[in-house]
Amino acid sequence: MSELSVRHLLGIKYLNEADIQLIFETADHFKEVINRSIKKVPSLRDITIANVFFENSTRTKLSFELAEKRLSADVINFSAAQSSVKKGETLIDTVNNILSMKVDMVVMRHPNPGAGIFLSKNVKASIVNAGDGAHEHPTQALLDSFSIREKLGDVAGKKVVIVGDILHSRVALSNIFALKLQGATVKVCGPKTLIPKHIESLGVQVETNLRRALNWCDVANMLRIQNERMDLSYFPTTREYTQQFGVNKALLDSLDKEITIMHPGPINRGVEITSDVADSKQSIILNQVENGVAIRMAVIYLLASKIK
Ligand code: CP
Repeated sequence: MSELSVRHLLGIKYLNEADIQLIFETADHFKEVINRSIKKVPSLRDITIANVFFENSTRTKLSFELAEKRLSADVINFSAAQSSVKKGETLIDTVNNILSMKVDMVVMRHPNPGAGIFLSKNVKASIVNAGDGAHEHPTQALLDSFSIREKLGDVAGKKVVIVGDILHSRVALSNIFALKLQGATVKVCGPKTLIPKHIESLGVQVETNLRRALNWCDVANMLRIQNERMDLSYFPTTREYTQQFGVNKALLDSLDKEITIMHPGPINRGVEITSDVADSKQSIILNQVENGVAIRMAVIYLLASKIK
C-alpha cells in the first residue's frame, strides 16, 4: 500500500493496520533524515499548514511545527489565547479565515471531543487531530507504538498496560485502538473510579493491582492525572493515589523481569512516576518525544500526497 485510506487523521479508530504500517515505514525513512547533518527535505515546499491550538501544549505543538519545517512546508501558528476567539468568533469562522489565506492543512488541538471531526465536515482542508478533549490523540498513539516497535522489535504479541487516569485520557483511547490493531494484548490499571464502565468492550482487561499489572506486562505506559478535566474527586488524596498507582524504583526493581516504561508527558514527577524511574535506562520517555517528529513528518507527508 502506498497511500493512506483516509484524507484526515481524526483518530486511530478511522485507520486500519495497513495505514499504521505505512506510517511506520514512512517514519523510518524520516527518522533517518532527521539524524543527517542536513535535517530537511524539500517534499512539501508547495504546502501551507496552520497549527491551531485551543489548548496548551509543549511536545505536540513543537513536534508538529518541527516536522512541518523539516518537510519544507510553510507554517503558521495560531494560539486561541491571543486570538479573536476571545471576542466570540466561532471555530468554523476562525478556521475559514485561516483557510482563505490559502492554507492546505490544519493541525488542531481542542478541548472538545469531536472538534476535529466537526471541522473536517465543515471546511475544505485536510485536518489532523492533535488531541480533542478526552477523545483521541492519534499521533501520540502512533509515536508510542513506533517507540515500542523500535525498543522491542514488534508490537504484535506484546503485553502493554496503560496505568492511571484512563477515564479522561485521549492517549489511553488512541493507544488501545492502535495496540489492538497491531495485535498487542492490552490491560488498563488504575482506581476503579478512573476506569470507564464497559471498557472491556474495546478488547482490554482491567487490573486494579499495579504490582500484578507490572509483573504481567512488557511495557507500562504511565499516564498523568488530568486534574484540569476533573469536576469531582476520583480518589481520596494524591498521596494515596501515588501509594497505589505510582511507579517507583523499588517497585520496578522488585519485579520478576525488566519492563519498559513509557509516559506521554507532561510528567507529574513523584505522583504517577518517580524521577529515578522516569530517568532510568528502562524509560523510553525521551525516545517517544524524538520519534514524535518522524511520526508527524510521516503523517503530514502522507496526507499532503492526497491533497496534490
Ligand atoms: N503528550 C502531549 O500531548 O503533550 P503536550 O500536551 O505537551 O502536547
